[in-house]
Amino acid sequence: MDTVRSAFSTPILVRDIAESVDVNRRLEKIILDAEATIPGKKRSNIGSWDSQKDFFDWPHNEIATMKGWLVDAVREISLKATRQQFTPRAEDMLAHAWANVSRGDSYRKIHNHESCTWSGVYYVKSDLVKEKSVSSGNIEFLDPRMLCIQGELPNSSFGSRVRVIPRAGRLVVFPHWLLHYVNPVEDDSLRICVAFNVKIETRAVQRRAQSMRSLAGCGDSAVRKRTSDIN
Ligand SMILES: [Fe+2]
Repeated sequence: MDTVRSAFSTPILVRDIAESVDVNRRLEKIILDAEATIPGKKRSNIGSWDSQKDFFDWPHNEIATMKGWLVDAVREISLKATRQQFTPRAEDMLAHAWANVSRGDSYRKIHNHESCTWSGVYYVKSDLVKEKSVSSGNIEFLDPRMLCIQGELPNSSFGSRVRVIPRAGRLVVFPHWLLHYVNPVEDDSLRICVAFNVKIETRAVQRRAQSMRSLAGCGDSAVRKRTSDIN
């Protein structure tokens, strides 16, 4: 009997947070106030404002609430990606995040995120007029099997792209290595989001990492300074 396995699948979690409306309203003000007073940081963003990667250290209850949503989503995608074998605890997660404010014509170049476990984005506000447009403001993920576009097979997923519409209250989580980009917004609408990286470090991983860091002359406290615990 033949067996056809679907190998090398890539998990992407998309979750709409139902109770996010009030939190988003306050996050919008917090982030726009920061945009007005703090110089932006240049990354893959073109024409938009990025904060420093210290967003999870900002002292607001709404950010703590958002962290809770993130922990739940990371636990869920980890469970799925390990065939129900592993659910990380909040104290196993190290993370950092940065806020982004985008208006018309801004976009984000193709990129992946730095080495960690999961990356993602949470949309605080999205006023896209052309939500049904095939491109405007959407985040698009590329097939990571880089060579598969060379062998065409009608109706297969080889070389395809996965497109996610930015919608307020939507949380998207994906592997840090997955290449993606954000299409230019085709109108003057405002989009506010928070991007993040999460590194899962169980005690066993922490012990191994600690020994490697000590070889490099880099103590644990120095590494942890770049992140903040999610709990
Ligand atoms: Fe990204």
